[in-house]
Amino acid sequence: MKLLVTGGAGYVGSVVSAQLLEAGHEVVVLDDLSTGHEDAVPEGARLVRGTLRDKASEVLAGAGFDAVLHFAAKSLVGESVQKPWLYWDGNLGESLSLLDAMRTAGVRRIVFSSTAATYGEPETTPIVETAPTRPTNPYGASKLAIDTALAEYARLFGIGAVSLRYFNVAGARLTGSGTSGAGDQGERHAVETHLIPNVLKVALGEKDAVSMFGEDYPTPDGTCLRDYIHVVDLGVAHLLALDACAPSTHQIFNLGSGSGYSVREVVEMCREVTGHPIPAEVSPRRPGDPAVLVASAEKIRTALGWKPERDLRVMVTDAWTFLQGR
Ligand code: UFG
Repeated sequence: MKLLVTGGAGYVGSVVSAQLLEAGHEVVVLDDLSTGHEDAVPEGARLVRGTLRDKASEVLAGAGFDAVLHFAAKSLVGESVQKPWLYWDGNLGESLSLLDAMRTAGVRRIVFSSTAATYGEPETTPIVETAPTRPTNPYGASKLAIDTALAEYARLFGIGAVSLRYFNVAGARLTGSGTSGAGDQGERHAVETHLIPNVLKVALGEKDAVSMFGEDYPTPDGTCLRDYIHVVDLGVAHLLALDACAPSTHQIFNLGSGSGYSVREVVEMCREVTGHPIPAEVSPRRPGDPAVLVASAEKIRTALGWKPERDLRVMVTDAWTFLQGR
């Protein structure tokens, strides 16, 4: 297939682009490089630099694309609370430009990176796709609005859409086995908020200690539980979702494993993998963090036959290999 990958210079988008190329697809990446990296775009993909608003219709028009995988987004929860307009405009506004460019060009399939943040604070765990969607920040709200727009474009214009609601993505895609190589892709955020890379930065000597945000949650060890998923497993789900797009239908699937790890367990795993003592200190809770976020992974397993293959040890090991190679 000929595919447009928006945000293909970012963490998840670049990994999925590489997997799509490996599967024999033709890939064009559209990315404004505001947070992505040009050298993360895999060899074999063509990079068009620009925003969706400026470039999507020009790229798609008359070019024979079969589908779009839409990753381009702003994704910092804290920033979204400070500057909500950036998220409504940058996520929803840009996505509407993309959807309309697809409609005009006759591109009829889209796989979208949605998020667990669309659910907000869950009433029950694990979270099923029919759970109430009550996002607690503009990031989640803007992604939920895009899910809604996809449902409308499916209903009104016959587009086949799949929203994949990611839980906590981690790990890296390594080209060599166990060693970091030139084509590797992993997390390289200018502002790093995620737990695993922040813990590993202590082992690298870039930070003295990791802060664990809160130890008084109603969880077995008092720290938050999250459902971590390896970025390569996540990518595999995108390839399946691409084939599962059905005309006039918007499908939603959670992407998680069905079980969670606590912040303490993640820190401990990072100690085991790196062999570094990784000092950790307890800090106050981070506002807006739910105690437990765990996906029900049943729907995607039943419908698409997908299940994660790589556990937390593999995620941490691959992230560690990637970071050491940078
Ligand atoms: N945490 C720490 N110390 C850190 C960083 C994180 O203790 O230095 C804790 C957080 O408080 C949280 C857990 O580690 O309990 C995981 O935090 P992340 O920031 O890695 O991930 P989140 O669960 O907050 O965020 C993820 C996605 C978001 C998405 C959100 C849904 O990364 O994009 O889930 O709520 F919005």
